[in-house]
Amino acid sequence: ADYLPLKNKAVLVTAGGTKERIDPVRFISNDSSGKMGHALADAAFINGADVTLITSSSLPVSGNIKVIRVESADEMHEAVSSRFESSEVLIMAAAVSDYSPETISTKKMKKQDHMTLTFKKNKDILKEMGRRKKSSQCLVGFAAETDNIYEYAEKKLLEKNADLIVANDIGKKDRGFNVDQNEVIFFSNQHEPQIIPLKAKKEVAQDIIDWIVEFTD
Ligand code: PMT
Repeated sequence: ADYLPLKNKAVLVTAGGTKERIDPVRFISNDSSGKMGHALADAAFINGADVTLITSSSLPVSGNIKVIRVESADEMHEAVSSRFESSEVLIMAAAVSDYSPETISTKKMKKQDHMTLTFKKNKDILKEMGRRKKSSQCLVGFAAETDNIYEYAEKKLLEKNADLIVANDIGKKDRGFNVDQNEVIFFSNQHEPQIIPLKAKKEVAQDIIDWIVEFTD
């Protein structure tokens, strides 16, 4: 019972939806609550890992998990990038905004009849870590899709050089964003796509940790 498969392993986990500021009182974001990522940090910790959770969620974090609170995709990039090299595992469960406003107004923007915002593309954190990854490191990404899950997840596995892509359907109310359960499909070069049926995010997180333990053994 005392066997801890991730003992002495540094595991980085990201969680939550990033917030991209428009002005001092406005931002754009997405529906990620941070539940999936926080469950993963807990599961990694229970399995003995030295866990650092980089989160844009305000959910509480239990005891011995190191937590770094970030807001934007840029801040998350910086927090992951500076710790990646000294980590054995990175799990990117965060819903990182793909775009952010081209300019951030320092003053509250005044009301107009029409408003146009322009956006620039953010850095793809997972893709960059995929390029930097050494063979001793394990990289897990997610794929949040509303359609063509198999096609898009296979593409992310390849393009991001991940060891595992955990795909979920974010078009359904009983899974994905902001609920306590999820159904996912594992994509890796080790096996055919594997369906993990609908269950508590806590249990899905343990299944992901089990996959990582087997992969890194
Ligand atoms: O937080 P919850 O409410 O519990 O919801 C969980 C979840 C649905 C957010 C989670 O299960 C999930 O799917 N997380 C990934 C969301 C996402 O951004 O997916 P994506 O398919 O757009 O991105 C693919 C991967 O690239 C992800 O691992 C993402 O973290 C990463 N990414 C994306 C954009 C970016 N600029 N940098 C990244 O690293």
